[in-house]
Amino acid sequence: MTTFDATHPSTTENGAPRESDASSLTVGPDGPILLHDVALVQKLARFDRERVPERSPHAKGSGAFGEFEVLGDVSAYTKADFLQKGKKTRMLARFSTVAGELGSPDTWRDVRGFALRFYTEEGNFDMVGNNTPVFFIRDPMKFPDFIHSQKRLPASGLRDNNMQWDFWSLSPESAHQVAYLMGDRGLPRTWRNMNGYSSHTYMWVNGTGEKFWVKYHFLTDQGVENMTNAEAAQMAGTDADFHRRDLFDAIERGEFPSWTLKVQIMPYADAATYKYNPFDLTKVWPHADYPLLEVGRFTLNENPKNHFAEIEQAAFSPSNLVPGTGFSPDKMLLGRVFSYPDSQRNRIGTNYNQLPVNQPKNATNSYDKEGSMQFFHSGDAPVYSPNSYGRAYQDDDGIVENGWESDGQLVRSAYSLHELDDDFGQAHTLVRDVYDDAARERLIETVTGGLVGSVREPVLSHVFRYWKNIDEEVGSAIEARVKAQTTEG
Ligand code: HEM
Repeated sequence: MTTFDATHPSTTENGAPRESDASSLTVGPDGPILLHDVALVQKLARFDRERVPERSPHAKGSGAFGEFEVLGDVSAYTKADFLQKGKKTRMLARFSTVAGELGSPDTWRDVRGFALRFYTEEGNFDMVGNNTPVFFIRDPMKFPDFIHSQKRLPASGLRDNNMQWDFWSLSPESAHQVAYLMGDRGLPRTWRNMNGYSSHTYMWVNGTGEKFWVKYHFLTDQGVENMTNAEAAQMAGTDADFHRRDLFDAIERGEFPSWTLKVQIMPYADAATYKYNPFDLTKVWPHADYPLLEVGRFTLNENPKNHFAEIEQAAFSPSNLVPGTGFSPDKMLLGRVFSYPDSQRNRIGTNYNQLPVNQPKNATNSYDKEGSMQFFHSGDAPVYSPNSYGRAYQDDDGIVENGWESDGQLVRSAYSLHELDDDFGQAHTLVRDVYDDAARERLIETVTGGLVGSVREPVLSHVFRYWKNIDEEVGSAIEARVKAQTTEG
């Protein structure tokens, strides 16, 4: 077993003493370097391999460990052990931007990732959400196109507003999320000052097998605070790692940020008759219909000891569920369930779940085996199931407790329409009823600023129509200002 001891004289990787950490082996002081300088060759070879691929989206981020405590009684809705009143569970959080690469500034306008892992006694439970309750699209087939439009142009390698607005304005289902992103919450002051949301609908199952639909809200106890465009731009230039630093320093000072978990619960049968499709990721459930119920609180109180090992190699995935929880028919969620572990097999390696940050705390017994860098293994136990030699295996058959009914022809189509399904209704409510006059004015300025000089026809006309569909007055104001500023320019 390799152990690390900072007081032990430094070694090569086979554990033998190094002669020097500073000088290569040469033929005389001025002579050439020798290939059999094992220590130098090893040091350079390892340096050449230090980076693993960054996450395809959400590359820039950081996080901390903490504790989740259940304060309310939700046993009527879920039997999940870690959600029972009084239970405390160790956890990990990682916050991120979506589009920026590893070194990009923390304060560029973007949605923020809000990924949580709970090391429960029944396995790891991950909630991989954002700081917004909705998303840009509702079918996973469009996700790579969406991310491509937010990243970089093929020729110049530059980010490009024209490309972003082209995708959004031709994807009307993005309106609600874009109205969030262009509003004040597109620039959180710190990660400590933002909420997190599951965004998706998930399932809970209680002790008698009753099922519920659930949305998670993690509300910041520090209060929501945002930056202005000017503050964010200035900070991007002076401290690209501002959000990372803020979280780390706050925890070092003993100022432990916390979030209160509240949930919206929808009775299972309501989904079929609700006025719009409750699994549509571009929509929220009004609190008037499904009020918030308090569950508990998590507090981040421990910084990583090693960013690479504990944050870069952390592998969060919506596929990590525990008994008493489940997926929903949200197509985006079902697409994600494949994509994350696949990304992590590529990014970190087949046995990424054997790394300390990803290991479940409970015992495992899996017939998946071998592959690159296997560390834990099943010894000489049978490698197949069923077997007659005492290694346990499962053979459940029949209806799964956290499933739902589904039948029909195979199709490629949008969700079947409910009474009030549309792309612009909730975006309009956000812009008109949730934002006040000042917030609406900031939104108009932000959108105008992003269009003038960088978005061209025919995209520009699509964008004006898109905003008028969200709110006639806001759309007209954006069009008038862009035209005026373009003429002036
Ligand atoms: C079909 C849609 C989506 C696909 C295919 C997708 C795919 C991915 C992939 C491949 C990663 C990198 C994973 C890794 O290598 O560790 C990632 C990261 C992430 N995604 Fe998604 N994503 C989708 C939608 C969403 C949505 C709707 C949300 C939020 C509600 C979200 C939140 C995140 C977060 C927070 C991370 C970073 C996790 C971390 O901190 O490690 N994604 N996504």
